[in-house]
Amino acid sequence: MPNQLAISSINVVVSADENPTAAKDRPVTPNELETLGVTDDFLAASGFEGNVNQTALLTEQDAVVIAVGLGNEETTTATGRSSAAALWHASKHLDSLTSLLPLTIASELGAEVALQAVVEGMLLASYRYDELKGTPETAPNLQQITLVVPDGVDSTAVLQKAAAVADAIALSRDLVNRPGGSLSAIQLANEAATVADNTGLEIEVWDRERLVEEQCGGIIGVNAGSLEEPRLIRLTWRPKGESRGTLHFVGKGITFDTGGLNLKTFEGMKEMKIDMGGAAAVIGAMAAIAAYAPDLTVIGTCCCTDNQPGPTATKPGDVLNIRNGKTVEVLNTDAEGRLVLADGLSLAAEDQPDLIVDLATLTGACLVALGQRYAGLMGNNDDAITKVQTAANKANERVWHLPLPNEYRKQLDSEIADLQNIGSGRFGGTLVAGLFLQEFVDETPWVHLDIAGPVTTDETEAEFPKGATGFGVRTLIEIVNNW
Ligand code: BES
Ligand code: MN
Ligand code: ZN
Repeated sequence: MPNQLAISSINVVVSADENPTAAKDRPVTPNELETLGVTDDFLAASGFEGNVNQTALLTEQDAVVIAVGLGNEETTTATGRSSAAALWHASKHLDSLTSLLPLTIASELGAEVALQAVVEGMLLASYRYDELKGTPETAPNLQQITLVVPDGVDSTAVLQKAAAVADAIALSRDLVNRPGGSLSAIQLANEAATVADNTGLEIEVWDRERLVEEQCGGIIGVNAGSLEEPRLIRLTWRPKGESRGTLHFVGKGITFDTGGLNLKTFEGMKEMKIDMGGAAAVIGAMAAIAAYAPDLTVIGTCCCTDNQPGPTATKPGDVLNIRNGKTVEVLNTDAEGRLVLADGLSLAAEDQPDLIVDLATLTGACLVALGQRYAGLMGNNDDAITKVQTAANKANERVWHLPLPNEYRKQLDSEIADLQNIGSGRFGGTLVAGLFLQEFVDETPWVHLDIAGPVTTDETEAEFPKGATGFGVRTLIEIVNNW
């Protein structure tokens, strides 16, 4: 297990009702709770109402007993994960934990799904970004967790899948949390190469010279002010047997967004290490998808560079030649995400996959419109939109469908090129950005997720510690698993 997930071992035992008093460290069964002191009186006195993520500690017994709320609604994998995360937070100071949670929610979710949700919730809650701490923080005490499940669960397989998903999300969080100065496009490509080594995914990386050769003028143009080379990273899952179809994910990988010559302010710039959150989601998802080994071809393309000012930088008014032949007048160098994605989407559309999904921390306007919890979702095909919405709902990642109004398209008309990179008006910036991207996918079914809001969270909640969330990884996994 990677060190950012701070639990060293999770054991699974089968519920044993037969001989309740046999072994001392045998887990409790539900009907023993009363004997342990978990009475209605105790619960009422501790203010415990059983709300989702609520916990109560009973410390008067030999062992500490913890009650975890599941709420009144139907239990979902999302409640399974978040209640497990609440349990982790309530028990991380203890030496060991035995939990009936997977057994309790197994009747509603199915034993395997319940176990996977609990393991993922605990692992993700234990995530910490500590690789740059000079003095290591003391690790949480709790290292040994025993989970009780009904008989007949293939726990090894479930634990492996849960670890693959949690590792993928932890990787995505690490990449987003890592400062821009410690994660150049080259370093990001090296991270992707490590993923390929560990998973058997194919990898192809294009350097600056190759990007010029391949006419990726968007990425080259955004990179023009930088001392670091750009990289286009492509990870591919190819099934052993016949492939049922092809899905192509594209990620914005701006390792730091200064705005370029249209330099950002202090407030606008200070968090811009997160501007490769789309690429981080794609790389994380590809790692997990390899563990699920679908009979589909899945490609992840990341368009990576920093966006810097300087004497060689692209200047406002310059015109770039995008991969698909269209020309773009760059009126604002801070609208750079759409320029690198223009190349990435053109490349994806060339192979005519069944679906393209791009993820990008694209517009501040999306934060204004939808706040920090919701991603903006736009697309050119109703069926594709429904599929991505369904996957996001299953993943418990919030998305909100926004329009791509034809009436606004003329805002992108340029006097001297095919398109300009910002709208002529002041409003609807998220939609105008979506309309811009649409110019590069032809007729291929395509969905765009603007993840500027949910890529990070300002406060720790359940399995989401403050900082990068790993948003998008789960939705992409669900798209593949539901296809
Ligand atoms: N990376 C930013 C968008 C962003 C802002 C993401 C805040 C997360 C939080 C993007 O490259 C950008 O600068 N967009 C501009 C577009 C404008 C110049 C049309 C913006 O949103 O201001
Ligand atoms: Mn920008
Ligand atoms: Zn940006």
